[in-house]
Amino acid sequence: MKQFLAFAAGSLCLLLTGCSKRSMVEASYNVIPLPKSVTAGTGEGFTLTPATVLAYPAGNDTLRRNAELMAEYLKPLIEADIKVTDDTASKDAIVLLSNLKAENPEAYTVNVAPGRITVNGATAAGNFYGLQTVRKAIPSAGKHNVTFPAAEISDFPRFPYRGCHLDVARHFFPIDSVKMFIDLIALHNGNRFHWHLTEDQGWRLESKKYPKLTEIGSKRSGTCIGHDFSTNDSVPYGGFYTQDEAREIVKYAAERHITVIPEIDLPGHMLGALASYPEMGCTGGPYEVWTRWGVSDDVLCAGNDTTYTFIADILNELADIFPSEYIHIGGDESPKVRWEACPKCQAKISELGLKSDDHSTKEQKLQTHVMSFASDVLAKRGRKIIGWEEMMEGGLPEGASVMAWLGEGSGLKAAKMGHDAIMTPLQYCYFDYYQALDKENEPDAIGGYLPIQNVYNYEPIPASFTPEEAAHIKGVQSNLWTEYIPTFSQALYMELPRLAALCEVQWLDPSQKDFSNFSRRLPQLINHYEVLGANYAKHVFNVTGKIAADTTAHVVKATYTTLDDAPVHYTLDGTDPTEQSPLYKEPVSITEKAVIKAAAFRNGKPSKIVTDTVVPSLSTARPIKIEGNVHPKYNAPAEVLVDGIAGPATFNTGSWIGFYQSPMVATIDLGTPTKVSSVTAHTMFETGSWIFPAESMTVAVSADGKTFTEVAAQKYPLPTAHESGLRNFTLTFLGVEARYVKVTLGCVMAMPDWHPGKGAPSFVFVDELTIN
Ligand code: ACM
Ligand code: ZN
Repeated sequence: MKQFLAFAAGSLCLLLTGCSKRSMVEASYNVIPLPKSVTAGTGEGFTLTPATVLAYPAGNDTLRRNAELMAEYLKPLIEADIKVTDDTASKDAIVLLSNLKAENPEAYTVNVAPGRITVNGATAAGNFYGLQTVRKAIPSAGKHNVTFPAAEISDFPRFPYRGCHLDVARHFFPIDSVKMFIDLIALHNGNRFHWHLTEDQGWRLESKKYPKLTEIGSKRSGTCIGHDFSTNDSVPYGGFYTQDEAREIVKYAAERHITVIPEIDLPGHMLGALASYPEMGCTGGPYEVWTRWGVSDDVLCAGNDTTYTFIADILNELADIFPSEYIHIGGDESPKVRWEACPKCQAKISELGLKSDDHSTKEQKLQTHVMSFASDVLAKRGRKIIGWEEMMEGGLPEGASVMAWLGEGSGLKAAKMGHDAIMTPLQYCYFDYYQALDKENEPDAIGGYLPIQNVYNYEPIPASFTPEEAAHIKGVQSNLWTEYIPTFSQALYMELPRLAALCEVQWLDPSQKDFSNFSRRLPQLINHYEVLGANYAKHVFNVTGKIAADTTAHVVKATYTTLDDAPVHYTLDGTDPTEQSPLYKEPVSITEKAVIKAAAFRNGKPSKIVTDTVVPSLSTARPIKIEGNVHPKYNAPAEVLVDGIAGPATFNTGSWIGFYQSPMVATIDLGTPTKVSSVTAHTMFETGSWIFPAESMTVAVSADGKTFTEVAAQKYPLPTAHESGLRNFTLTFLGVEARYVKVTLGCVMAMPDWHPGKGAPSFVFVDELTIN
């Protein structure tokens, strides 16, 4: 009975007060993007508990919605439902205001004091960014209260346009995915969602006037497989958003202070529309929704009245759905071959009196005519146009904003001409590029290489710009083209965490930017990705290990670094490291055979483990000289041959030295006369890549490094067909005393007749020379 009472009392406590123990964590204002100024207050700060309320001024619906969203953000972070109230005099409150006097409409301040956090924005948007800072200051999710140190934070963004683009046409993502994408833009203080809705591979927005756009144009009969455009998986693919769904997205984004900029890409990238309404093409079709990627020659016919009616109707429907001041009308990659051959287009050119000149062809000017027509349609609705940079080729329509993508040049040129520009140069902003070099372990990408450091270090405004010119650079945007991104999970992987780097380009003053400081702040933001269940690229947290021979100290050393200076633990016995394993403090010297494994630890969790096997021999970490013709692409330092590590079977990892058109000759100084009886050369070959196994090997020894005596020599047969793999060439001999050992590996100087490169010299690839 007693026991039962005790149990009942315990349950009552849980039921009535939720009084099971909550732990405590401390907030950190080292968030992304980093606020302009954080001044520590004196005395106590604020403690966020389940009893805290979010208070907005009565009658202010926008701040009420901000408060409701903040309650949603806080729920998983502290495992509690926070009450929203319109009583701003409440005690123990996060108070939301939007009456900050500031020049920048998106500015905010956060004041953290005992019993109260006050988040004040110059507008409700500014307030929202202040709330994001409070949210992101919570370091991790759990059943805990959060102490916020007393502080005064003051912040505003650098650029008014902070965009993020998503191509939903190559691959379609349902409305819930689009909402999550918008949630992630909000987490990064972005304010524009560029929604790329139409393509050769599918038209993705319902039209009331042109129903075939989705009945026919949203579906393709298959999709090419991988990067081979000649293939087709024959799996029907499709999808589109109803107008109601698009309106739902507009509202969802607006509540998060994000403007949706829809894009109808014209006059090119139009096979979705042409398949539906072939009369709008120069040839009249028939056309098919494309099953492959690339740029199609078939574009809208610019000499056809129905085309202009279509453009006007579609843009008017778009303006009805999307309230944004700017509508994107594409303009990129629109070949002119059909227009050159089309009597209707040529008649239009004559009618308009367009003539080719030094700057533009008459067809490029015809494109400007089309874009200007679209611009006029939208101007009547009080809207403006943005277009991709090719829109400039035939002259820019008045008032048009330019989106630079092929590089920075066109955007900078437009700004100098007095047009507004949005910078999305592919070398910094194309998130469909690989972000890590370890391609075998990365999901597919269109190609290229855009690591997070490069995104971070982008500076959109040239030093030479005047303030007037600089004012025309309205902002920066990442683009995600989805040819090779079939799943939303992969889309997020490509975005994150590069979007974190981009958001500091968009938000911070350049003087504040510091990549290593950013890297140390990144793990806290990544915890928020985890809370949202968003996939992200984890390679940024991997340990970078380097095993190198120190031929002065005669020891192999292992060096480890992480982007964020996270603690690294290692083992030398092949077991997986734990937090109890030795902590890495300085390069680890390896003198005996070891399997060295290292991992970084964050919140008790290990990163991917890096493993290296070091097998020392008499040659290890001894001075080495090489002679022979090393190919510049495969020219690792000679010391890789004596680092105790045999390389992997791929030849471009940096651990192989490629000798071309000449034998390898390496001389190793053992330091003192030493008894040696065998030498092994670790090589790899891939005859298809002109890398052959050695055709001979010799070993010679010397006491003075000048006069050498040959102690062993061998010739080897050549392959008779294509082969590849690793091969160890070993010569053993009666033990001799030697201080210097010279190893020569013969290179095939004339490849055999069966080889496509017959008669030409081959490579010989070596990565380790061991002496015993
Ligand atoms: C583009 O990447 N075609 C704008
Ligand atoms: Zn035409």
